[in-house]
Amino acid sequence: MTTYHLRAASPAKTRADAVVVAAWEDGKNPRLADGAEDVRSAYGRSLRPLLSTLGFTGKSGEVTRVPTRGALSSPLLVLVGLGEKPKSNRAAELLAVRRAAGTAARSTANAASVALALPAGDTGLVRNVIEGYLLGGYAFARYQSKSPDKRAGTVTVLSPVARRHEATTTFEEAQVVATAVTAVRDWVNTPAGDLTPPLFADEIQKAVKGTRVKVTVLDDQKLRDLGCGGLVGVGGGSSAPPRLVELRYSPEDPVGHMALVGKGITFDSGGLTIKTAKGMETMKCDMAGAATVTQATLAIARLGLPVRVTAYACLAENMLSGSSMRPGDVITIYGGKTVEVLNTDAEGRLVLADGLQRAVEQDPDVIVDVATLTGHMMMALGSKVGAVFGSDDVVDAVVEAGQESGEKHWPMPIPPDVVERVHGSKIADIAQHDWVRWGGGLLAAAFLREFTDERPWAHLDIAGPAYHKGTAAGHWTPGGTGFALTTLVDYARALSSRAPSDA
Ligand code: BES
Ligand code: MN
Ligand code: ZN
Repeated sequence: MTTYHLRAASPAKTRADAVVVAAWEDGKNPRLADGAEDVRSAYGRSLRPLLSTLGFTGKSGEVTRVPTRGALSSPLLVLVGLGEKPKSNRAAELLAVRRAAGTAARSTANAASVALALPAGDTGLVRNVIEGYLLGGYAFARYQSKSPDKRAGTVTVLSPVARRHEATTTFEEAQVVATAVTAVRDWVNTPAGDLTPPLFADEIQKAVKGTRVKVTVLDDQKLRDLGCGGLVGVGGGSSAPPRLVELRYSPEDPVGHMALVGKGITFDSGGLTIKTAKGMETMKCDMAGAATVTQATLAIARLGLPVRVTAYACLAENMLSGSSMRPGDVITIYGGKTVEVLNTDAEGRLVLADGLQRAVEQDPDVIVDVATLTGHMMMALGSKVGAVFGSDDVVDAVVEAGQESGEKHWPMPIPPDVVERVHGSKIADIAQHDWVRWGGGLLAAAFLREFTDERPWAHLDIAGPAYHKGTAAGHWTPGGTGFALTTLVDYARALSSRAPSDA
């Protein structure tokens, strides 16, 4: 067990196995960042030549360790690079600190006690230090027979604002949020064979215990009875049947009601429109949206935010068998709209359609869906940035909500010609797909909008940033990232701080 503290103490006088400071990259010489002042004066003039000899430049991800030999109360000084200091870009600065804190967690894995003297001059920075540290230290060891539990016993975040009430609150809340992100990572990293829709639904039921969130699991029979043709159709090819998990958090006197809908394809083989072997490699991650909306709801409840949340985890496994949905089949989404299925690998939008229609029924103020929906958005934006589509004001609010934790959501359009493509079916109300190569992510968004009944809505396509293929870097570790969770929680926070009348 690790305990976390927030203190307003000097890093030079704090006794810990390791004390961490950060530096900005600045031409040839690194520039020590806020928080490191006392360390700089404790070393005096000897620090600069020492760092230069070590070749430390302050580049992002860079780490160097210096035995202090009495210069500080701690025996080891760890320096982490922040990269070049962004010019008047608060979000970029917060992200640099978050990443450096993540790197710090891995560089101090063998220390029993750690003091973090990173830039922490306000609550936003405090939050990114502790969240970055908790996320960078994440490891998924469940399937390793020898899992070395390398975690410090005591972690102290040093901050000049530590005595302020908002800082302590932020510090506690950040731990709740980071725990929710790591829970998303655990689910995403779990092999698809061990997290089929029924097993995932069980996990969600276990996870809500002890919170104020109520959960209902709709099984395949119930989904057929209700007419949830998206989930039933997509899940039809798997021996593990689909589930729709509905979560409800209803605080007293809520200032607003937000509905969250998550894509939960526990494995995406493509179905009869089968993927390539390589295309399937990471497809256990295709339930990241459902994991994210579930854990975001739990985090919002744990924080006690005064926002009502109704969440839908749309769970199905997209497999091939004699009972698979076929290209050319027509399915009926919950509520009655018919869809011509032309590509069984465009399955996400079908399960989300059921979820969106269920959400609309609850009359929420806003609907946000989260999905690893299209490789097209990955092509367009790479693996660090998400796409956001939808109503202008909701899109703006999502972009804004992402800033505090360094999550970038890039606004994308739904142009009229793409809407026409959705209306191009000759046999059903709408078409799920066409073989036009361009704008596939936009087409998916246009399709989803058909099921929002023109309500305030945003669609987050997180196909790129949901899964990190490389080695650990900053606060990202290999596998699931938990991307979009902090955005959803901060979105709910923004709603909470509005007056009830304008919610
Ligand atoms: N789950 C995939 C999208 C995806 C791709 C997520 C890569 C994460 C990484 C989705 O179901 C899919 O297969 N999308 C197709 C859409 C196409 C058939 C219109 C795609 O991206 O090719
Ligand atoms: Mn697919
Ligand atoms: Zn998919």
